[in-house]
Amino acid sequence: MPHDFMPGLAGVPAATSSISDVDGQRGVLEYRGIRVEELCAKSSYLETAYLLLFGHLPTPSELQRWTNDVTHHRRIKFRIIDLMKCLPEQGHPMDALQAAVAALGMFYPGRNVKDIENNYWSAVRLVAKLPTIVAAWARLRHGDAPISPRDDLGFSENFFYMLTESVAHPLWSEIFDDCLILHAEHTMNASTFTGLVTASTLADPYTVVASSIGALKGPLHGGANEEVVVMLKDIGTAGKARSYVEGSLSNKKKLMGFGHRVYKVKDPRATVLQGLCQSLFKECGSSPLYEVALEVERAAGELLKGKGIYPNVDFYSGIIYDKMGIEIDLFTPLFAMSRVSGWLAHWLEQLRENKLFRPDQIYSGEHNRPYVPIDRR
Ligand code: CMC
Repeated sequence: MPHDFMPGLAGVPAATSSISDVDGQRGVLEYRGIRVEELCAKSSYLETAYLLLFGHLPTPSELQRWTNDVTHHRRIKFRIIDLMKCLPEQGHPMDALQAAVAALGMFYPGRNVKDIENNYWSAVRLVAKLPTIVAAWARLRHGDAPISPRDDLGFSENFFYMLTESVAHPLWSEIFDDCLILHAEHTMNASTFTGLVTASTLADPYTVVASSIGALKGPLHGGANEEVVVMLKDIGTAGKARSYVEGSLSNKKKLMGFGHRVYKVKDPRATVLQGLCQSLFKECGSSPLYEVALEVERAAGELLKGKGIYPNVDFYSGIIYDKMGIEIDLFTPLFAMSRVSGWLAHWLEQLRENKLFRPDQIYSGEHNRPYVPIDRR
């Protein structure tokens, strides 16, 4: 019997989960019951990743083991680097990341997903190696040699080091770590759902994460963070923001970094990211993009009043990365190297009671058509 068709599965639950929760009316996001604002103030990305993956805040010894394990698995095989060297340098970094992550699975015995120990090490490797792949690609495409990770540096510090060969200002690492926390998980979004569909076939976790990376790339999902900065640069000055917003809306063009399927108020992550922008600017001077963004938000607030369309996580993040000198097309890979912990948390959760995803469709075609021979068509 046909059921009600919900385009985009809007409002249709696809799983029972205790990993995160969004209250779209009040603008609240919790990971395992803890608000993201509190995690940004008190936790680190690696500790938050542990919370998401294993369901509780780690004890000191658990955190130490997790940190050591991740730290010692950051290196990538030279063949992964060789593979990336063969990719066209003008290609999008998300495609390079997806290819490298899919290839990772060929090096590690992750096939038996019923083996809990194996799954732990797969999660360690994926959380550890994604930043190394992103940084390696960022350098290789400019003809620079990749930089090996440094075990004495924390997760975010090390990422900057692999990208630039220098240790960033501690405030930058702190702010960047908060950005990673804010992007780590977000209930049943498109990339998580994609990963879970793949996972439901009992595919290995490298394949699961590679498929999630593909879904994250699109401009309606993670790719919006790049589009926002392109839009802000296009607008150029705060004075031109209002006419840009009016023009976009009258041409039915969506404003990038605005709107959300679940939030009907401002995304709480956008609010935290705005605060992070201000902390960064206090130390390093402001960004003209921020002034433009404020004006876009103000104009959109007036023109879209009552429609429940406000800035989402992608609206302010790119301004921070841009100020840190990170190239625009790396923004979505940064999202992926954080969100991998959420994807893996859902993968582990689903494996406990896995059921193959096999939804239905409502057939709208014809029946009983005759086959017409090619000379009579
Ligand atoms: N700018 C202008 N109008 C908008 C926007 C926007 N950004 N988003 C939604 N609307 C309007 C849309 O035109 C439609 O209006 P109407 O009913 O008059 O035709 C109405 O709101 C419903 O839009 P929808 O696209 O059907 O709603 P949705 O729940 O499918 O949209 C969304 C969610 C995120 C795809 C959409 O808001 C959008 O395309 N935003 C821009 C891209 C973006 O910022 N994506 C990042 C999402 S959050 C982080 C992530 O997932 O990675």
